Amino acid sequence: MTGRHAAPVPGPSPAPPPRGGVLGCHDLVKTYRRGREEVRALRGVTLEVRPGEVVALVGRSGSGKTTLLNCLLGWEAPDAGTTTHGATARGAARTSWEEVAVVPQRFGLLEELSLLDNVALPARLAGHDDPAAAAVAVLEALGLAAVVDRAPAEVSLGQAQRTALARALVVRPAFLVADEPTGRLDEDTTTQVLGVLRDLCTTAGTGALVASHDTTTIAHADRVLRMSDGRLEPDA
Ligand SMILES: Nc1ncnc2c1ncn2[C@@H]1O[C@H](COP(=O)(O)OP(=O)(O)OP(=O)(O)O)[C@@H](O)[C@H]1O
Ligand SMILES: [Mg+2]
Repeated sequence: MTGRHAAPVPGPSPAPPPRGGVLGCHDLVKTYRRGREEVRALRGVTLEVRPGEVVALVGRSGSGKTTLLNCLLGWEAPDAGTTTHGATARGAARTSWEEVAVVPQRFGLLEELSLLDNVALPARLAGHDDPAAAAVAVLEALGLAAVVDRAPAEVSLGQAQRTALARALVVRPAFLVADEPTGRLDEDTTTQVLGVLRDLCTTAGTGALVASHDTTTIAHADRVLRMSDGRLEPDA
C-alpha cells in the first residue's frame, strides 16, 4: 500500500543494523500469579516475523498481546519458551534499538526532553552523523513539524503516540515491535502513519509486529495473527 501522505524516513545510520534472520518466539508460556489468583496470559505461543513484512497482532482486550510483545522483547521473563532476535544470536536483553525498536502501549517518552530530543536520542546513541536532523525528518513525515520543541506533557496523546513511533523509526531498525501504535489516532492520521511505516518496511527491510484493534491497521498488514485467551488461533 502507499499512504496518501507517505513521506520518506531519513537515511540510514552510519552503522546499519544487521539484516536478515527473523524476530520470533517458540512455545512461550507466561502465567501471572497474584496470591491464589492465576492468569494464564500466554499458553504456548509460536510466531515469526520476517524482514520487510508488516504483521498485525489482533485479539480482544486481555487476550495476551502486550504480554506476548513484552516477553518477545525480554521486558518480561516467560515461564517457558524461547525467543529469536533478528540476525544476531544474542538474547533479548542485549538486543540493540537498531535491531529491535519498540513503541510501547504507554509510549515511554522522557518527560524532561522535547519531542525532538526524545526522537534524536536513539539516533545519537547509534552514532548517527546528525541525530537532530534525522529526528526532524521523521517527525515531519509523521505530521509533527509544528510541535517538535514541546515536551510530551504539552502535546495531545495522538501526538505523543506518533512521537513514540518516530523514536522507533529514526534508526531504521531491523525489526519493530509496536503495541497499539494507532490507538489514539483518527483515520487520516492512521493512514499517514501506516504509509510511513510501510515505506520503512519496503526501503529498509524492517519487519514489523503491530498489536492493534484498529481496522485500518489490520487492513494494511501483510498478515494477521489472532490471539485468543493466551493462544494464537490456528488459522493465523
Ligand atoms: N502484571 C500483571 N499481573 C497480573 N495479571 C496481569 C499482569 N499483566 C497482565 N495481566 C493479565 O494478563 C492478561 C493479558 O494481558 P495483556 O496486557 O497481555 O492483554 P492485551 O491483549 O494486551 O490487552 P489490551 O488489548 O487491553 O491491551 C489479562 O488478563 C491481564 O489482566
Ligand atoms: Mg495490550
